[in-house]
Amino acid sequence: MPATCGRWQAPADAVDPASVPQRILYTGAKMPAIGLGTFGSDHVSHRAVAETVKSAAAVGYRHFDCASVYGNEDQIGLSFQQILSSGLERKDLWITSKLWNDKHGEADVIASCQKSLADLRLDYLDLYLVHWPFPNHQPPGCDVSARNPNAVPYIHENYMRTWRKMEELVDRGLVRHIGTSNMTIAKMKLVLRDARIRPAVNEMELHPHFQQPEFFQYLRENGVEPIGYSPIGSPGRPDRDRTPEDTSPTEDPVILKIAERLGVHPAVVCIKWAVQRGQTPIPFSTNRRNYLSNLRGVIGEPLTAEDMKAIQGIDRNCRLIKGQVFLWKEDQTWEDLWDVDGEITPP
Ligand SMILES: NC(=O)c1ccc[n+]([C@@H]2O[C@H](COP(=O)([O-])OP(=O)(O)OC[C@H]3O[C@@H](n4cnc5c(N)ncnc54)[C@H](OP(=O)(O)O)[C@@H]3O)[C@@H](O)[C@H]2O)c1
Repeated sequence: MPATCGRWQAPADAVDPASVPQRILYTGAKMPAIGLGTFGSDHVSHRAVAETVKSAAAVGYRHFDCASVYGNEDQIGLSFQQILSSGLERKDLWITSKLWNDKHGEADVIASCQKSLADLRLDYLDLYLVHWPFPNHQPPGCDVSARNPNAVPYIHENYMRTWRKMEELVDRGLVRHIGTSNMTIAKMKLVLRDARIRPAVNEMELHPHFQQPEFFQYLRENGVEPIGYSPIGSPGRPDRDRTPEDTSPTEDPVILKIAERLGVHPAVVCIKWAVQRGQTPIPFSTNRRNYLSNLRGVIGEPLTAEDMKAIQGIDRNCRLIKGQVFLWKEDQTWEDLWDVDGEITPP
């Protein structure tokens, strides 16, 4: 149903944003239960991503997942400016950005957020995340074997120093919510224990082949909303980010069978599952047909209880975004970043 709002006129095939499910955060704020990813990686230009933000808003997207490290916030800011000058109000949008790993220093957090705000041409962010729990960084596009000689393990005291500045962003009214990303239960327990302003969300990899059931449950029980990245299994990620063990949820026979029955792409089944399960997927696409069908999937015919059960059964604990470049020692494997034994990996 086309939606008219001031001078804002949606195309005839647009989804009414009012029909999209909302997550209620612990502050009472509402966040649309699907967002648009904006990481073009190596294969989509900043300009193409920014153009997509405009046309995705036109078809009904109201939630956008941005980050300074994606390198395109200045271009996306021009899109937001146009969206907001054509009749949509700022309160109608949910906009996230993220603090990159090289800006964890106490003197850098506020300046970095202000830079994102300036680039995005906004007065405030709905959500600002600490992108990774490590201050370790690399030049974009580096090989997975690259290591930063200054890389360090997770040091909770240091993370909390960064977090205090994140809290200050809320106090100053620059951001409405703060959150974490790429965390583990072990790290999250400490942050929830020590935070003055609790994380409202944790952004994490979530798709049918990587369901993280224990962490998902932990977050729900503790009032932290899970946002799921790479919800389709990131089929467009570069070769350097692939390993022979990786699997693809969109090629899983269970997903294919449901997709065939519903007459949709397997990607849409992944998105439906995510929203029905209770996380907020942020699929990336610059293809209008694809991002519109993802949004339509969320308001369309729900998956059956049997479908949901069958998808629960195909979890392969297959993490695709492993983060190898953030390791801090030569002889480590990527599992060391993820506290797989339930304890924070020692230095
Ligand atoms: N917090 C973090 O550390 C973190 C890490 C990774 C990602 N993210 C965020 O999560 C977003 C999404 O993750 P992602 O980009 O890795 O992977 P993804 O959303 O799982 O997959 C994106 C790919 O799926 C294709 N696609 C999307 N919808 C489709 C459909 N309906 N039918 C067929 N193909 C479809 C897209 O191709 P087309 O363009 O051709 O449609 C694109 O190549 C990112 O853009 C970023 O905002 C955050």
